[in-house]
Amino acid sequence: MPAAERPEGGAAGAGARPVVVHTREALREALVRWTMSAPISSVAGGDGPARRAVVMTMGALHEGHLELVRRARAEAGANGQVVVTIFVNPLQFGRGEDLAAYPRDLEGDVEKLASVGADLVFAPAPDVVYPYGDPIVRVSAGRIGEVLEGEFRPGHMDGVLTVVLKLLHLVRPDVALFGQKDAQQLLAVRRMVADLDLDVEIVGAPTVRDSDGLALSSRNAYLSDEERERALALSRALRAGAEAGAGGAAEVRRAASEVLNATEGVEVDYLALVDPITVDDVPDDHLGPALLLVAARVGTTRLIDNQAVEVSPQVT
Ligand code: PAJ
Repeated sequence: MPAAERPEGGAAGAGARPVVVHTREALREALVRWTMSAPISSVAGGDGPARRAVVMTMGALHEGHLELVRRARAEAGANGQVVVTIFVNPLQFGRGEDLAAYPRDLEGDVEKLASVGADLVFAPAPDVVYPYGDPIVRVSAGRIGEVLEGEFRPGHMDGVLTVVLKLLHLVRPDVALFGQKDAQQLLAVRRMVADLDLDVEIVGAPTVRDSDGLALSSRNAYLSDEERERALALSRALRAGAEAGAGGAAEVRRAASEVLNATEGVEVDYLALVDPITVDDVPDDHLGPALLLVAARVGTTRLIDNQAVEVSPQVT
């Protein structure tokens, strides 16, 4: 059924084209219509409570995004509503970054979303999200926004949190899903929800990778075949680090950086082994869970990846 004939934006089911809205008014109408109809269909269907789940994206969707939407479908329940936002947020791009070049393909994205059970797509223009121009009042990620990504992309995490908070207010979901691929972002969002008492559940989903280990990313489209080959060093380094967990924290760092150093044409911004809650570097005598993160430039493309590591007692 064409979108125009199905304006309620709810319970599309896999295969149906989601309703696509571009304005705040159309979004509000689609949300209200669903809220009005959901309790009735929920009771009738007997499928448990119907919830609204949101997946926020910048488009150029790949299997990593689609996996988040499938999980959102499961979180929302059969009678729930799955909303996907597609917005390339200028606020989180620094000067000289790829805002203008960032891949955009709304029609292709909507087709993909039809196959994974999205009900409603909110794809606003920048002046819909920021009607008064650049916001004066913004969310600060604090210390989480100053380390790792924050050191190389000043203001980036504040820009992310500001748009995430705005989209949460606009969509009013029960649950929001984010990928572990952007571990620092997921952490910052969780921290914002806790610190600012937001009434939403945050669900993290594992990183989806190509069969050769490369973490899926919209930015992989920038890589030439040869650069893609070099980019595999990131996931290889993380695996080497994780496998060295039994040797202690210093050994994890050493094993990972050895792989990166051995690959030509991979310019490392950072390689860090941190506490998964505070993102502080873990000391060499750390035991237990840690997060190994890497950011590197391959040609002009900047890539990030991460991996959970269990640092266990040193066997002597
Ligand atoms: P974007 O890079 O489009 O990513 C949207 C969501 O998809 C994020 O939660 C991200 O972590 C997740 N994702 C990306 N690649 C993934 C992969 N390979 N496996 C699993 N999940 C993956 O992240 C953003 O957009 C923006 O910062 C946003 C949150 C939308 C705010 O503008």
